[in-house]
Amino acid sequence: MSTDLKKLFESWGKTAKREYVDQQWLLSKWEVVEGIVWPQEKINLMTQTIVDGLQLQKSDSLVDIGCGGGWILKQLKPYVNRIVGLDFSQSMLANARQFCPQDDLVCGEIGRLPFGDEVFDHGLSYFVFLNFLDDDFVERGLLDALKTIKKGGKLLVGQLPDKSKSKLYDHAKGEYLKYCEKRFRLGESHRDVCRAPQKLFDLDKLRGFLEREKIDHEFRRSFNPFFRPGVEPTVEWRFDLVLKK
Ligand SMILES: C[S@@+](CC[C@H](N)C(=O)[O-])C[C@H]1O[C@@H](n2cnc3c(N)ncnc32)[C@H](O)[C@@H]1O
Repeated sequence: MSTDLKKLFESWGKTAKREYVDQQWLLSKWEVVEGIVWPQEKINLMTQTIVDGLQLQKSDSLVDIGCGGGWILKQLKPYVNRIVGLDFSQSMLANARQFCPQDDLVCGEIGRLPFGDEVFDHGLSYFVFLNFLDDDFVERGLLDALKTIKKGGKLLVGQLPDKSKSKLYDHAKGEYLKYCEKRFRLGESHRDVCRAPQKLFDLDKLRGFLEREKIDHEFRRSFNPFFRPGVEPTVEWRFDLVLKK
């Protein structure tokens, strides 16, 4: 796994500490820098997209792989019996501590997850796999994550950018920036802040891999991270991949 990515999130976890405490934990780096806070309505819609995708039951156990500062741990706690967060960044896990008991936070790495086989009813990984530029690593990571899920369970891998719809994404981002510029009087910081790498996914290639591995799956529209009044809460330029065991 790229040590650069680990370093990036380790430093992000440290610098974003105040923002995580102020509950700005969902934001992209430039939104944090500009002081933009997502409204609760937006956070609730995003939570609902995940809850619907996994069809969560109150008795379920759930693992959040790449939990970061822990907003999902906080949001999904009321929907399940137990939720465990995993991340390879200690500073991110330190931020997540405010939402989750220490015993339910695990430091570990996708590709060699420190859980046994078939431990959790369901799993999710949101805003994580889009940072893995390498197809082989994505495939290995998916198989590794799926191993930890019990038979009959689901793994939701969220916010994957669809390569064939990247123009729609660029347009949506431009519109969102315009909206933010009007509303929040943006400075310049969103133009030059360091950002994690983003992979564009070839759906046919991904589908081919899943079919070869005989993994039952579903592609779902993903939550719109540029959601604001008057726009659709889900979009086709990002998708959630639901793997079924
Ligand atoms: C963009 S953040 C998303 C965090 C969280 N899921 C959210 O939606 O706010 C990506 C997270 O994945 C973690 N991560 C990236 N690669 C990882 C890997 N190979 N193993 C474990 N965690 C990883 C990072 O440390 C970071 O916290």
